Amino acid sequence: MNIALIGGSGFVGSNLLPALTARGHHCIVLTRDPERCRHLRLVQGVQLRRANPYDAEDLQKALEGVDAVVNLVGILNERGRSGKGFHKAHVALTESLITASKGAGVKRILYVSALNADSQNPKASHYLRTKGEAEDLLRASGLQFTIVQPSVIFGVDDSFFNRFASLLRFVPLLPLACPGARMQPVWVGDVAEAIATALDSRSAIGQTYPLVGPKEASLLQLVRFTASAMGKKRLVIGLPDPISRLQGLVFDFVPGKPFSSDNYRSLQIDNVSAQNALPQLGIDPRPYNGLMRSHLGGCTHQSRLDALRRSPRRRY
Ligand SMILES: NC(=O)c1ccc[n+]([C@@H]2O[C@H](COP(=O)([O-])OP(=O)(O)OC[C@H]3O[C@@H](n4cnc5c(N)ncnc54)[C@H](OP(=O)(O)O)[C@@H]3O)[C@@H](O)[C@H]2O)c1
Repeated sequence: MNIALIGGSGFVGSNLLPALTARGHHCIVLTRDPERCRHLRLVQGVQLRRANPYDAEDLQKALEGVDAVVNLVGILNERGRSGKGFHKAHVALTESLITASKGAGVKRILYVSALNADSQNPKASHYLRTKGEAEDLLRASGLQFTIVQPSVIFGVDDSFFNRFASLLRFVPLLPLACPGARMQPVWVGDVAEAIATALDSRSAIGQTYPLVGPKEASLLQLVRFTASAMGKKRLVIGLPDPISRLQGLVFDFVPGKPFSSDNYRSLQIDNVSAQNALPQLGIDPRPYNGLMRSHLGGCTHQSRLDALRRSPRRRY
């Protein structure tokens, strides 16, 4: 199949491309900036196409000759706090993609949503509500859709464990918001395999698949695990709920938003599921501890320099 990936230049997309090409598919990464992700050209069977994801006409041209499309666009934070940024990236973009897919004759669409996405929950964060709205659009679209809903995704190039690792490298003490939030980290390789399997299977059409790992933990346990895997003695202190909330409100105004009131709201709902679809898709889910312990344990200054030297993203 010719499979287009919108948002395919990111963490999940980069790990999904080898899983799809290994099955003989030809992949087209639709990106706003092909120069920024030119390293993906090195993956055999992958082509880059520039497209404006908010312009259905432009997107339709880019989808010419495509059999299936995977939507991987997602943001965890927006500029401002109104929810408009989330609506644009999740809902408006999905609307534009549905129109473009119909125009280009693409019948199959797979959406990478998030666990707990829900358009009907008034208490949900903008992130989870708009992910839910995008799911609703797909269910009503008449296209052959599949939705996957992962918990937090881990891997050597993730932005969860690695972000905490960067913080823990420099601070002796880390005050942590929402320490009790529960998660079931799922390996990016398993998410990639689930997407590839679903695209090859007719029985996946019309299905929504929660994807979680085999090991559940609180955010506090995961951050303490990160410090111990790095071999660092760090004091990680869970903040009480009112202070966590206040931290979100204050950090809304910090450039780059290391945490936000919307992240705080997302963390009020446990990121766990008893209905893991991975075994149903023939995948034995991998726990985070083995892989991430050896990755984080190797995060010495020298090994980071070596990794940079090996990286295809290296700028010459
Ligand atoms: N990572 C996780 O732990 C996790 C957990 C649950 C669900 N998910 C969902 O899985 C999907 C993939 O996650 P990821 O971690 O791979 O994402 P990512 O690396 O942060 O971003 C994916 C791509 O989306 C495009 N993009 C980013 N912001 C955009 C915007 N405002 N408008 C249009 N395009 C934009 C970018 O592609 P270009 O710049 O090339 O256009 C980017 O490379 C997302 O939908 C995310 O919500 C992720």
